Amino acid sequence: MNPSIATRPTCRRLFWALSLLALIIGASPVLADSHAGGSDGDGKVVLITGANRGLGLEFARQYASDGWTVIGTARSPAKANDLKAIAADTLQLDVTDRDSIAALAKALEGRPIDMLINNAGIFPRVGAIEKVDADDYARTLMVNTLGPVLVTQALLPNLRAGERKHIVNITSQLASIENNGGNFYGYRESKAGLNMFTKTLAAELEPEGFVCLALHPGWVRTDMGGPSATLSPEESVTAMRKVISSLSAGDSGQYRAYTGAVVPW
Ligand SMILES: NC(=O)c1ccc[n+]([C@@H]2O[C@H](COP(=O)([O-])OP(=O)(O)OC[C@H]3O[C@@H](n4cnc5c(N)ncnc54)[C@H](OP(=O)(O)O)[C@@H]3O)[C@@H](O)[C@H]2O)c1
Repeated sequence: MNPSIATRPTCRRLFWALSLLALIIGASPVLADSHAGGSDGDGKVVLITGANRGLGLEFARQYASDGWTVIGTARSPAKANDLKAIAADTLQLDVTDRDSIAALAKALEGRPIDMLINNAGIFPRVGAIEKVDADDYARTLMVNTLGPVLVTQALLPNLRAGERKHIVNITSQLASIENNGGNFYGYRESKAGLNMFTKTLAAELEPEGFVCLALHPGWVRTDMGGPSATLSPEESVTAMRKVISSLSAGDSGQYRAYTGAVVPW
């Protein structure tokens, strides 16, 4: 007997069994989720905080269109429609809320992340020492300094499992102690603290191959930057991504602008 004839019905049965299995897998929410969160394109995963608007949303847009898997966080994911249209995952995160940070870490347990962009921030414009309010000042430090510290701490296992090992902290040129023309109490201190955290973290994680960067985006037309700012979000993020993609081990712990220039501490 011709063996190919004998095996034809078996092959057909195997084909249908495999097709059925594929259908079941496609319909499974668990597996569908793990696909959405998996590594698309060139397989890199980026987590961006405050990704529902402004620079965070533009980072999400550009990395997603470049084939990255984007995990974007928002304080209110239900309202983050622009982000949800782009990101593989939109997860809740308020960087001042420790339960929220813990829940994020739990949701991402075991999932490698190549790059963390600590982008979420606030900018209360406090012009004179008489205007400093203790609660507002403390909140600025919580959002801009302690928030990124705790988010980084919580996601370190994910970042250690990632290949890139990049931690990018979005700072400001207003954090420069050398170039300080006054005003903006609280904000300057909060971002200077973020810069110090970046440097300290870089020193600790350098043996593991991490690159940590404090990156100033320029003056950008977001809700924070206002309509008179010199750069569009697209221009700023395109430039920052260029800086990020050029990073090597020797750049860790630096304070740079979107142009690539080193900013004086
Ligand atoms: N735009 C500029 O000219 C400029 C210049 C220098 C540095 N920066 C820095 O760039 C980063 C992004 O700024 P942007 O211009 O895109 O500002 P933005 O348009 O005001 O967006 C700020 C983002 O941070 C989020 N956020 C605020 N408080 C948060 C909290 N407690 N937990 C989690 N997320 C929180 C906001 O979420 P909600 O929508 O829920 O409020 C929003 O997604 C900031 O770190 C900022 O300091 C901006």
